[in-house]
Amino acid sequence: MSKLFATKPLELLMVEASDEGHHSLKRALGPVNLVSLGVGAIIGAGIFVLTGTTAAQNAGPAIVLSFLLAAVACVFCGLCYAEFASLIPIAGSAYTYVYATLGEIFAWIIGWDLILEYAFGAATVASGWSGYLVSFLRDFGITFSPEWTSSRGEVMVYYNEHWVTLDQAKDAIKAAGIDPQSLPTVTASFNLIAFLVVLVVTAILVIGIKESANLNSAIVIVKVSIVLMFVGIAGIYALQHTDLVLKNWQPFIPPNTGKFGEFGWSGILRGAGVIFFAYIGFDAVSTAAQEARNPQKDMPIGILGSLAICTVLYVLVAGLLTGIVHYTTLNVAAPVAIGIDAIGVRWGGFMVKVGAIFGLGTVMLVMLLGQSRVFYSMSRDGLLPKIAGAVHPRFRTPWISTIVVGFFVALFAALFPIEVLGHLVSIGTLLAFVIVSAGIWVLRRRRPDLPRPFKTPWVPFVPIMGIIISLGMMVSLGKDTWLRLIVWLIIGFVVYFGYARKHSRVQAARSAAQVPPTSSRH
Ligand code: ALA
Repeated sequence: MSKLFATKPLELLMVEASDEGHHSLKRALGPVNLVSLGVGAIIGAGIFVLTGTTAAQNAGPAIVLSFLLAAVACVFCGLCYAEFASLIPIAGSAYTYVYATLGEIFAWIIGWDLILEYAFGAATVASGWSGYLVSFLRDFGITFSPEWTSSRGEVMVYYNEHWVTLDQAKDAIKAAGIDPQSLPTVTASFNLIAFLVVLVVTAILVIGIKESANLNSAIVIVKVSIVLMFVGIAGIYALQHTDLVLKNWQPFIPPNTGKFGEFGWSGILRGAGVIFFAYIGFDAVSTAAQEARNPQKDMPIGILGSLAICTVLYVLVAGLLTGIVHYTTLNVAAPVAIGIDAIGVRWGGFMVKVGAIFGLGTVMLVMLLGQSRVFYSMSRDGLLPKIAGAVHPRFRTPWISTIVVGFFVALFAALFPIEVLGHLVSIGTLLAFVIVSAGIWVLRRRRPDLPRPFKTPWVPFVPIMGIIISLGMMVSLGKDTWLRLIVWLIIGFVVYFGYARKHSRVQAARSAAQVPPTSSRH
């Protein structure tokens, strides 16, 4: 039993982190690269797509409070991530931290759980990306067969001279007095566009981290500029039309409909659980710790800096958007474009779509990067087959795991609906946050002696708050999502007991040294 809680010695992790051999990853990233890696991972489908649907379905203008609540949880957990990342600057992120503190079984759970965050996260974003590309090209008269532009089983109807998903358009169709069944209908088979974009991003990642980071930095500038452009234009408009804004913000917290999660305070909580997706990604910075030039100093800057920038942008965008258009009109795929169209800036919608297309691209890039780095670490520990950790001799990237991950992510993106993927990503990531926060607390008690280049302030208050708020948002996500999480974890246990435990290098070292079970604890 105690074998399950075997920890990986911190001293060994630190030696691995300083390994500079040709099997190691290349240390190429500075603080600006890391902040932009974070912003590149964070700003994506959350702000460009979910802001509108969450305001319309859950929180109304109070989505601003949902954004703040989710940000508070992220700051608490981000502070814990920052301490870990500066202490253990190695590629595996939360997986590695937990291996060193709570033991192998928890490390496995988190490694398995991170697949939900990174791989399913990239798939979710790819699905959103295809929607933006289709809409962008349609503006130029280029159309695709609807069968190949949405996830398997999605019902598409021909309405207002283009194909839309029935789920999103049904209220508008009914409001127009049309029976949806009277419209031409197609059921999608495979989202080919989402599939192909994931393969392209995978190819970029195989070629190299430095090249990927440079491309990422360039795109992050475009993405942030477009969000700032929205804030600037909408801000000036709002100042000139304060009456309209105040009217749209009334009531700021729409009354609850009688169902949990539909407006009122429970709507704000459910909104925070859903919109939490928009913040996912700052922790991906920590997966690049082994590729950072000065991880002790730069990891906290990368994590907290990117989180701060995005929180300010999100609150501004959400507040302005619900101020210039009424929240009930925001249940659409491109809410930010709708907002700017309402102001009457003709080129604004075009710019927002360009920003989303590039912006969601970098999110996929960082998520796929994170996933292959977690597999790289797990394989080095023996929990996954050795081949997953193979580093390409010329590109110095974990190319085999990158390609395998890329292929499966492309398939998920093509087959599963965006809502199912998105909710799973949120619950999986929140679980990782809970475990990481607990890990910081445990490590402070067990190893108070360790030199900590960055210390989480107010322990245990900060980790406890991180745990409580994350659990609250997990609870708000509903029964179906919980069920999927449980099934996913059960599959994980089967793989652990069937393969990982037998091949674990930590277990092998313990047996060789015949370490008595109790000495696994630090
Ligand atoms: N935060 C990322 C997004 O919003 C996952 O797309």
